[in-house]
Amino acid sequence: MANVIVIGAQWGDEGKGKITDLLSRSADVVVRYQGGVNAGHTIVVKGQTFKLHLIPSGILYPETKCIIGSGTVIDPQVLIGELDQIESLNISTNNLLISETAHVTMPYHRLIDQASEERRGVHKIGTTGRGIGPTYADKSERTGIRMLDLLDPQGLREQLEWTINYKNVILEKLYNLPPIDASVVIEEYLGYTERLRPYVVDTSLEIYQAIKQRRNILFEGAQGTLLDLDHGTYPFVTSSNPVAGGACVGTGLGPTAIDRVIGVAKAYTTRVGEGPFPTELSGEIGEQLCSIGAEFGTTTGRKRRCGWFDAVIGRYAVRINGMDCLAITKLDVLDGLEEIKVCVAYEIDGERSEHFPTNARKFARCRPIYKTLPGWQQSTSHCRSLSDLPSQALDYLKFLAELVEVPIAIVSLGASRDQTIIVEDPIHGPKRGLLQADGSPVSLKTA
Ligand code: IMP
Repeated sequence: MANVIVIGAQWGDEGKGKITDLLSRSADVVVRYQGGVNAGHTIVVKGQTFKLHLIPSGILYPETKCIIGSGTVIDPQVLIGELDQIESLNISTNNLLISETAHVTMPYHRLIDQASEERRGVHKIGTTGRGIGPTYADKSERTGIRMLDLLDPQGLREQLEWTINYKNVILEKLYNLPPIDASVVIEEYLGYTERLRPYVVDTSLEIYQAIKQRRNILFEGAQGTLLDLDHGTYPFVTSSNPVAGGACVGTGLGPTAIDRVIGVAKAYTTRVGEGPFPTELSGEIGEQLCSIGAEFGTTTGRKRRCGWFDAVIGRYAVRINGMDCLAITKLDVLDGLEEIKVCVAYEIDGERSEHFPTNARKFARCRPIYKTLPGWQQSTSHCRSLSDLPSQALDYLKFLAELVEVPIAIVSLGASRDQTIIVEDPIHGPKRGLLQADGSPVSLKTA
């Protein structure tokens, strides 16, 4: 039995979807613990491609229970669209459970998100515009609507009448927008009640019972460490906690139940939205990574900014998440490059630093210090074991593992499930490199 958290070690879009899909095969329960419809992954089922923003892709495995935890925010319209799509393929959604205390994204959240970005002008965050920040803001302000409120039509009506009055003041006076018609929104949301009722339960209790029955639970983080509200590149972050600690808060589970934390990082780095990005490539190589890696957002279609692998961020993600091992994705995107750079440290105001500065202004002044490695200039997408890899690719991976001081357990070389090298069992293999008896970091096994 193992309870495992999978997190993004960079700015999101690390390819967590593929890794969680691989691990879901041995999980009895898959739990999403934060974020909302800002996240997204594309899946192909029975030849049909569709995008999931809220429902864990574990739903495709008939024996797997899928849970959307209390730390998430739910846009019911999008959720119902996903349920309809899945059911149209004759796949059951009976295994889905939704936390009754998860907060609900309302139309005014989307409007306020978009209007506030516009008002910020050059100071905009580059949000997905899906109302995520305002939904979490209402949660903190204690004016939010929760899933359990959706199940109580009379209570919902009263709560929304009051809240929409209040939001209309903000929309009209602050953003010069027309007010929302409360009765239209109330009718819309009451229309979701019966469709969603069968799924809504106390998911914390379900998870606790699964633990007592010694089930394997996979906790799936959305976005990534550097987008964490508390530990990311604030203010250019999302409004939840994608880090491993968020899995406990976002599900109602104590930390002693967690056995493993697996980080997912691309073999290079990408970022969507605004904010500093020390290893960003603005020229030809950046364009090349973007087009070969198909770096366009699943949710907004925005082009992702691309750059070299940043080991300072990698080490920070290992520390903040208590990461045991790493899955490196999209190694094949680097195949054509003559040489590859890796950021090993920063230069900040003339001084070298190995550590990520939490001060955003300082972070914006960081200059990467690179080590250049030779590329391999041959295809790796067919490789199925480390011994199939060109020696330069293997050296590149070893170098990354040594820099971030955790072993690399999985290497992904393409979108399909078989384009994967499992170096170590990520769940039962060695724990963190730092914890080796002789104090040395675990590296890749070459045998
Ligand atoms: P929000 O989550 O829509 O409020 O956006 C805040 C920041 O997080 C923006 O920079 C977004 O581009 C970024 N972001 C949100 N969700 C994702 C994601 O799933 N992948 C990558 N970036 C994301």
